[in-house]
This record gives sequence, C-alpha cells and structure tokens, in this order.
Amino acid sequence: MNRNTAERWGRVSIALHWTIAALILLVQVPAGLTMNRVGPGLLQNILYDTHKMTGLTMFALAVVRLLWRWANPVPVLPADLPPWQAAVARLTHGLLYLLILAMPVSGFLYTAMDGFPVPLFYLANLAELVPVNKPAAAVAKAVHLNLIWVLLAVVVLHVAAALHHHLVRRDGILRRMLSSKARLPAGEARS
Ligand code: HEM
Ligand code: HEM
Repeated sequence: MNRNTAERWGRVSIALHWTIAALILLVQVPAGLTMNRVGPGLLQNILYDTHKMTGLTMFALAVVRLLWRWANPVPVLPADLPPWQAAVARLTHGLLYLLILAMPVSGFLYTAMDGFPVPLFYLANLAELVPVNKPAAAVAKAVHLNLIWVLLAVVVLHVAAALHHHLVRRDGILRRMLSSKARLPAGEARS
C-alpha cells in the first residue's frame, strides 16, 4: 500500500519519515558537530561537502513529503487520546516540519551569503544564486546554530511520545509508522 488511508501511513510516507530522520540524526548532526573541530584538510572538506549536499537532499525530501501529505489522507489519532495530547501531537508535528525546512534553508543562506560554495553534487555551485552579504550571513548562522538545539529538543519529546504510545498506551501509533502492514489493535485495524 503506497498511499495513506484514514488509519494507516502508506509506504511512501513511512519511507520519507525514516529516511529524513536517519539523514538528520546519523549524518547531519554528527557531520555538523565534527566538521568545525577536525581542523583544515581533506577530512574537513569531505565533512563540509557531505553536510551541505545531504542537507540539500533532505530539503528536497521534506518538500516531497509535505506535498505527498497534502495529496493523501492523514491517519487519525486514536479517538480516546486526551484532547491536550492530540493538540501537543499536532503542534509538535507542525514544529518538526517547520524545523526540517528551516535548518537547510538557514544553512544554505549562511554558507552562500558568507561567500562559501554550496555544491549541488559537484554539478553546480548553488551559492551563486545569492549575493554575498556578511551581516545577513551572521543572522542566518545564528538561526542555524540555535535551531539545531530546538530541533533536537522537539525530537526528544517526539520520541518520548512515540514510546509512551507503544509501551504505556499500547496503541498502534508507533507500529503504523514502522510498517504499512503492521497489525493494529482492534478498532485501529480497518484498512
Ligand atoms: C537538515 C539539515 C541540517 C541540519 C540538521 C544541520 C545541522 C547542523 C549542525 C548540528 C551543525 C553544528 C552546529 C554547532 O557546531 O554547534 C551545523 C553547522 C553548519 N551547517 Fe548545517 N545542518 C543542516 C543543513 C545545512 C545546509 C543545507 C548547509 C549548507 C548548504 C549547512 C551548513 C552548515 C555550516 C556551514 C555549518 C558550520 C557553522 C559554523 O561555522 O560553525 N547546513 N549544521
Ligand atoms: C529527526 C527525526 C524525526 C523527525 C524530523 C520526525 C518527524 C515527524 C513528523 C513531522 C511526523 C508527523 C507526520 C505527519 O503528520 O505528517 C512524525 C510522525 C511520527 N514519528 Fe517522527 N520524526 C523523527 C524521528 C522519529 C523517531 C526516532 C521515532 C520513533 C522512535 C518517530 C516516531 C514517529 C511516529 C510513531 C509518528 C506517527 C504519528 C502518528 O501516526 O500520528 N519519529 N515524525
């Protein structure tokens, strides 16, 4: 099942969710935190290029993900979920979407406006699209370096909520994000 239904995430949404999460947590954050600390040289150049190109790829995937979401039903939350928890879930998800767009945009603007290259898989230098502007680059840098901590804090909350659903409420929320065919508790299993 590729498309979402009112009860389940389809394969496309699931693949996009986990690919974006893996690129952020396993590539972007480790590369971002080490690339400035290893000192100039080949390793630093590889880490910077990987960080920039993976960031651009993740931005494209985030846009595809949002378009796919608008073109598909969004699975409903369990009917017995307290309204405040449903509100926090919606707020958290909205924030996560905002952050996965704002991180690559601020990183791109900071790099390009500071006069550094942004390689598009070594085919073009996207930095040429934006004029060098050092004061604006400093603002974009501050946004990039502060938003990462907001993103990580929201992800911790998000993961805690997913575990609460799975281990305490024992509903199908985590399972339906792991597989489009997962067995769901009675009442959530219609599809
Ligand atoms: C999801 C996308 C991204 C995430 C999660 C991310 C995350 C990070 C992190 C964790 C750092 C290290 C922060 C620190 O040292 O305190 C960083 C630094 C940096 N990022 Fe990103 N980044 C993303 C996208 C991008 C993109 C697309 C570019 C450029 C095209 C970029 C350019 C940079 C640069 C140049 C730095 C070094 C900042 C400095 O001078 O200290 N980032 N990023
Ligand atoms: C950087 C990492 C992550 C990001 C940016 C992220 C982002 C998101 C977003 C935006 C949604 C809402 C989907 C929508 O309504 O369209 C979502 C749903 C979900 N996420 Fe994550 N996520 C991340 C990591 C994780 C991890 C590590 C877990 C599990 C341990 C997880 C579990 C879930 C679950 C179970 C849902 C489905 C909620 C539902 O069915 O209503 N996420 N995620």
